[in-house]
Amino acid sequence: MEQYVIKGGTALSGEVEISGAKNAALGILAGAIMTDETVTIENLPNVKDINVLIGAIEDIGASVDRVDEHTVKITGSSITRLSVDYEYIKKIRASYYLMGALLGKYKSAEVALPGGCLIGSRPIDLHVKGLKALGANVDVSYGLWSARADRLAGNHIYLDKVSVGATINIMLAAVLAEGKTTIENAAKEPHVVDVASFLNSMGANIRGAGTDVIRIVGVSKLHGTTYAVIPDQIEAGTYMCAAAATHGDVLVKNVIPKHLEATSAKLIEAGCVIEEYDDAVRVIAKGRKLSSTHVTTLPYPGFPTDMQPEITAVLAIAEGTSTVSESIFENRFKYVDELARMGATIKVEGTVAIVTGVERYTGAQVTAPDLRAGAALIIAGLAADGITVIDDIKFIQRGYEDIVGKFTKLGATFAEVDSEHELQKFKLKVS
Ligand code: EPZ
Repeated sequence: MEQYVIKGGTALSGEVEISGAKNAALGILAGAIMTDETVTIENLPNVKDINVLIGAIEDIGASVDRVDEHTVKITGSSITRLSVDYEYIKKIRASYYLMGALLGKYKSAEVALPGGCLIGSRPIDLHVKGLKALGANVDVSYGLWSARADRLAGNHIYLDKVSVGATINIMLAAVLAEGKTTIENAAKEPHVVDVASFLNSMGANIRGAGTDVIRIVGVSKLHGTTYAVIPDQIEAGTYMCAAAATHGDVLVKNVIPKHLEATSAKLIEAGCVIEEYDDAVRVIAKGRKLSSTHVTTLPYPGFPTDMQPEITAVLAIAEGTSTVSESIFENRFKYVDELARMGATIKVEGTVAIVTGVERYTGAQVTAPDLRAGAALIIAGLAADGITVIDDIKFIQRGYEDIVGKFTKLGATFAEVDSEHELQKFKLKVS
């Protein structure tokens, strides 16, 4: 069984290069099948979720040429199946972006229903509402979600709740619908903007992405393009929090600092110095005292729910009492019990975690409950006194490229082991 093992206590220092944004890349990969011409996507992160979606795209018959670790060429002219199997959906929910893409291009698609998820209930009612408004007959039954239309026609769609997934799925279908579509109360996340920019580079006509109202004028056809995915704001934020928790000094490179403002603001409140450059941020926590602050997750530009576990891992060793409120997903505090095994004092009351800062973490064997929760355990392990062993690292591998290599380069003593023998060897080496 693969595990991560970390000997904590080293202040991280140096530079780390951030990979492409997983959640932007997922929408972009799905969008790439919407033309019969070849689309080249660069700066893809080499992480499991991306590889699963690429597998789903190959499975429906598109041709996929993996040019190198971070570049893929997709040609959608050979698509033969308009249905996406549960095998993919159960591994990665975002395979459902193929619904919007296939429906837009072929006016017909069938995708297995995603079901629940570890971080909370994940309904698709807003996706369904949007596709219906475009004129599709949508049927949800027998574990499948199918949509068909003779023609798709633009419409005015109000999203009752801000949803990244629904915004992207509706946008994908609407770019090839006839006439004008307006999505109100749209998600403003950088990955939504990136998917819109990508589609525009294929000939779509999307305006307003990044604001509450997205306006789309349907076009009859999309064409090939070459497009580079934006940097991953959550991966960047994770390294920023790790720098803070270890009292380090780290330059996080290849980022868009604007996308990191919420995380930067909270780290400044917690006592770090943040220097912003054109495409990098430097987090300085060396010699500085960490202190408490209050965080509430909100849709962008609010504090991202995907950074909630990571910032909590920092605040748990900051002086004073912090509160962390989760407003997006109801089940995102499962890592708290694991942090408690490492010495944290955190009490969860409903959607709020009350975090009483302790002086330090102590290494322990812990289990990653999901992707970002796993990242929080790594941050705690890096800051901890002693050795931390993390189980269920498959969750972390879904979204972080070369996490061991990147942290090792920053001075961490961090390894992936796949046997008791290797674990003991690591322990012997570092003791
Ligand atoms: C995206 O999920 C991200 N995933 C998540 O990142 C992220 O946590 C989330 O957005 C919030 O930022 C991808 O981009 C692939 P939502 P998504 O639809 O699109 C409710 C990570 O760690 N809702 O914006 O599924 C929903 O229950 C992952 O990388 C409805 O009620 O999230 C939630 O409360 C995990 N009906 C809220 O909206 C719907 O039809 C926001 O969810 C859809 C959503």
